Amino acid sequence: MTTRSNFGSKLGAVLAAAGSAVGLGNVWRFPTEVGNNGGAAFILIYLICVLLIGVPVMISEFVVGRHTHANTITAYKRLAPGSWWRIEGVAGVFVAFLILSYYVIISGWTLYYLVQSCLGTLSVAQDFKAGFSAFIAHPWWPVVYGCIFMGFTHLVVARGVQSGIERFSKVMMPLLLVIIVVLVVCSFNMPGAHDGLRFLLKPDFSKVTTRVMLSAMGQAFFSLSLAMGCLCTYASYFSSDTRLVRTAVNVSLIDTLVAIMSGFIIFPAVFSVQGVQVDEGPGLVFITLPHVFQMAFHGVPLLGSVFSVLFYLLLLLAALTSAMSLHESVTAYVHEAAHVSRPRASVVVSVACMLLGVACSLSFGPWSGFRVFGMNIFELFDFAASKVIMLLSGIVICLFVGWKLDRQLVYDEVTNGGTLRFRLFRLYLFLIRYVVPIVIGVIFVNELRQ
Ligand code: PHE
Repeated sequence: MTTRSNFGSKLGAVLAAAGSAVGLGNVWRFPTEVGNNGGAAFILIYLICVLLIGVPVMISEFVVGRHTHANTITAYKRLAPGSWWRIEGVAGVFVAFLILSYYVIISGWTLYYLVQSCLGTLSVAQDFKAGFSAFIAHPWWPVVYGCIFMGFTHLVVARGVQSGIERFSKVMMPLLLVIIVVLVVCSFNMPGAHDGLRFLLKPDFSKVTTRVMLSAMGQAFFSLSLAMGCLCTYASYFSSDTRLVRTAVNVSLIDTLVAIMSGFIIFPAVFSVQGVQVDEGPGLVFITLPHVFQMAFHGVPLLGSVFSVLFYLLLLLAALTSAMSLHESVTAYVHEAAHVSRPRASVVVSVACMLLGVACSLSFGPWSGFRVFGMNIFELFDFAASKVIMLLSGIVICLFVGWKLDRQLVYDEVTNGGTLRFRLFRLYLFLIRYVVPIVIGVIFVNELRQ
């Protein structure tokens, strides 16, 4: 058996896992969801989802990963040899691969906007909507930026767990937090900031429907990087004295804080400019915000440029640490199962993923006519990965840890062999055995009906 690397410190482990969780989902998707779904009412439901569903699922993934010290596919194979539970590991790694293929394309857009901000071309008056649509429909520019982004991700993952992922996360995560605080302070000082805050913090319970609850749940899953083999793989590098429950709580806390602070950056900024509409999805970050950056600091365009450089840098760093975990989930498998060196395994993953990424990118331009169930390739991948496989995987993980694994094994993992106390163990078991599978099951059926 070859010796496997571990994270060198507990802080490194927390920051790497938090890096996986904090991503495009926090900075861009969360504020849009809050804006569309009743402000503080959505935040409240989201917090309940994180606490009652997100944290228990994360602990369960940690149990599987740390107990086996193996990549996700091998982990399930070892814990349930010869049984169909093994499919769970395959689904996790497959979904990570699928998500990475389109995540790099959006991250490439972010890189493009960062470059434009640095060059000062983003602050030139223009039709931001037309500019954005023309860029993403271009046959090769988004691919070029996607490739550069994949190149960065590749370099970090190929260096290994400690000198690549851990070292990078230890520098980037604190930097990311500093940028967020600076941006929040800037945003709070904009004229009209408190209209934005009122919009964000005023709970509008009339908008809360079951559909909104389901959105909150899906957002929690995506944002916490659950059910994609990423956290299971990272947990396989945790040392025997890493506290699983505490790590899961810390990661969820950091992730949630970043999401809420992103709302504090975006809404005061947007509300400080009259007549700007909050666009949905990519529009918020790539159409509304450039407009805001240009208009918010009348007469001082330099301030707008600095704000926009910092904002896209934040988005890029967040995306990079998440892409690393998606990449690592697949690379660890190729490296260990096919017995090829880590650098080679990561080349295979980067190239294969980029090929799929090209298809995703072209689906906004030359291939936009190619549709399956009314969706282009990009939307199809997102639907399959983050609506179908992710939710099903979430159910299977909980059933696996709750019912299939030996209760003593689970207890030993969460208490580090009985040396820690975990008073809520019975509640945790109850949640993963009954509550989480039933709630996700309802979501799944509802999503399919849409
Ligand atoms: N959690 C990341 C985000 O918020 C996305 C992601 C999902 C990363 C799944 C890894 C695994 O953007």
